[in-house]
Amino acid sequence: MFDIIKTLAQTFGPSGNEKKVADTISGMLRGKVDEIRTDAMGNLICVKKGSGKKIMLAAHMDEIGIIVSYIDEKGFLRFGNIGGLPPLIILGQRVVFENGTVGVIWYEENIDNMKNVTLGKMFIDIGAGSREEAERLVKVGDMAVFVGDTVEQNGKIISKSIDDRIGCAILVETALRQPETDNEVYYVFTTQEEVGLRGAKTAAFGILPDLALAIDVCDTGDIPNCNPMAVKLGGGPAIKIKDRSVIAHPLVKDLLVKAAKNKKIPYQLEIMKDGGTDAGSIHTTAGGIPSGGISIPCRFIHDAAEMVDLNDVNNAVKLLTEFVKSC
Ligand code: CO
Ligand code: ZN
Repeated sequence: MFDIIKTLAQTFGPSGNEKKVADTISGMLRGKVDEIRTDAMGNLICVKKGSGKKIMLAAHMDEIGIIVSYIDEKGFLRFGNIGGLPPLIILGQRVVFENGTVGVIWYEENIDNMKNVTLGKMFIDIGAGSREEAERLVKVGDMAVFVGDTVEQNGKIISKSIDDRIGCAILVETALRQPETDNEVYYVFTTQEEVGLRGAKTAAFGILPDLALAIDVCDTGDIPNCNPMAVKLGGGPAIKIKDRSVIAHPLVKDLLVKAAKNKKIPYQLEIMKDGGTDAGSIHTTAGGIPSGGISIPCRFIHDAAEMVDLNDVNNAVKLLTEFVKSC
């Protein structure tokens, strides 16, 4: 499992540029599902055929990043965000472009109060001496992602892009285990979640499933002096009740709780105040689709080093497998 997570987390794929991730996942699932296809939005749809209910399981392939908006005469890059990027978190971070060019994010020195630092007052230094030199490596419109190893330590995984390659890894692992069921299972690896849950919308419309789940990360309430939240690392996968994009369908939520109880899988209940998931766009697609989610408790979401517990990840695979069989 760790190898799958590491491979996926280290594959380049900011929103709208998910092809390398899709190719990597196709390689992992070829021969293990009945059909693999891609739609116009770039969603990768892997189908295990069946005569029962159509179940859509969605995890997003895209990761947050930056997009170059201007290159000045000295070769410094100005940039915008792809997905949610808190300015103070990205200061001093290393980013990498698809061609391997590395840059350092820094800020204009005339800022008196760091609370006032915005992306517009920041730049990326790729070590170029002039605009011409910079343009040999990077063009306006190019995207870059965080640099950050994937390591396992004390039963935790620390990595860039846990959001949401961890969800992709959980879907891959579940598909490889081939749960025995008559249901038709759609393992959907979506695009452009971080910029507004976009890929999941067309994927859901194309499939029109009877039930859908988003597998993604959620916040925790277990670090020093943080906002209280009834979710912690290592407490089990979180069954979604509500986030900013969706209120889980009671039927889906109850099926998940029942599946967890049946298999004695530890679980937590998630109410996330900020952030949404693909379930947010899936549940309002077409005439409406009963949707919910399994979330992996994650510290430092959208940082270059996010952290999850490997037990929660493995239990999420178990829960997902049981869910697919029991609904
Ligand atoms: Co995210
Ligand atoms: Zn996510």
